[in-house]
Amino acid sequence: MTQQEDREEMALTRATVRKPPQKLSSPSFFNLPIHPGSAISAKDFSAAEVRRILESADALEKENPMRRANRLAKRRVALLFYESSTRTRTSFELAAKALGADTTLVSSLSSSIEKGESLKDTGITLKALGAECIILRSPYSGAPYLLARATGLPVLNAGDGMAEHPSQALLDLRTILQFLGIRSSAVTEKTLRGVTVTICGDILHSRVARSNALLLPQLGAKVMLCGPRELLPEYAAGMGPGIVVERDFEAALRQSKIVMMLRIQAERLAGLQVDLDDYRSRYQASAERIVKHAPKALIMHPGPIIRGLEITAEVADGLQSGIAQQVHNGVPIRMALLERALRGDKARKGGGR
Ligand code: CP
Repeated sequence: MTQQEDREEMALTRATVRKPPQKLSSPSFFNLPIHPGSAISAKDFSAAEVRRILESADALEKENPMRRANRLAKRRVALLFYESSTRTRTSFELAAKALGADTTLVSSLSSSIEKGESLKDTGITLKALGAECIILRSPYSGAPYLLARATGLPVLNAGDGMAEHPSQALLDLRTILQFLGIRSSAVTEKTLRGVTVTICGDILHSRVARSNALLLPQLGAKVMLCGPRELLPEYAAGMGPGIVVERDFEAALRQSKIVMMLRIQAERLAGLQVDLDDYRSRYQASAERIVKHAPKALIMHPGPIIRGLEITAEVADGLQSGIAQQVHNGVPIRMALLERALRGDKARKGGGR
């Protein structure tokens, strides 16, 4: 073999010796980080973080609208809704627009989700289109964690299955503090000591109940869950500290400054036998019951309301009702969450507001 032939054979050998295959899999999905600007669970908010969000909501609400519209000017926010919504969707959209962001709504009925596209692929697609933050409502508990890990974007949970609705809990808290005359700047772990909040109704299926039950005790409140066994299992008291179960609605009313009524979620009742007449007679917030047992309490409801079932029209529209104020508080709280999500990096590095 000539020297030339020798060199050619060695080159051929080098070329045909295969390198070990490259690893195609990504790092373990569950090790992927969640963007710190996300808001997925109420349990992630310390009292100090809650205070910052409430103070930010107050400041943003008061700010000159022209100045406010520069805060997130041209930032891209996607609203990804797999379930219907009036309050949450509209208030997130108005909040984003008030801060100057561009918004786009993707709903399961008018997008490729209908053709079977997965949440992960939808999220990756929205990111590739320039979305910088995704607001997600999903019928599946835990979906916001998947979306946050898959995209690396801040994800704001607008309600996931029967799990959580943290922005609702924050706007509920703002409503409670306003009723009690407590300033946002005064919020600490002890602010709601001595305050009992009754949450009554379909606790089993309620993400609102869960987020409130996780958030309010962090500020010292006692949360009294109330409802029949079918809708309130005994183990619910184990959700966290400061939570008790009380079956007798009138006894709960007598102890409470705040009463949150919940909708009976017909769409999630599957297989449960709930006698609605019996439910009304024991758990309805009727004018007679409220006047007799909780004449000074604030009556709340996250909506949508089924008038004549869990609450009467008289109570929903009455002087003790905080329902319209809850809806109103949706925009400032969601402005604060959006700014935390999108300007948080700057603030975390010391830029602040
Ligand atoms: N409170 C609430 O989540 O209402 P929507 O379903 O209308 O958003």
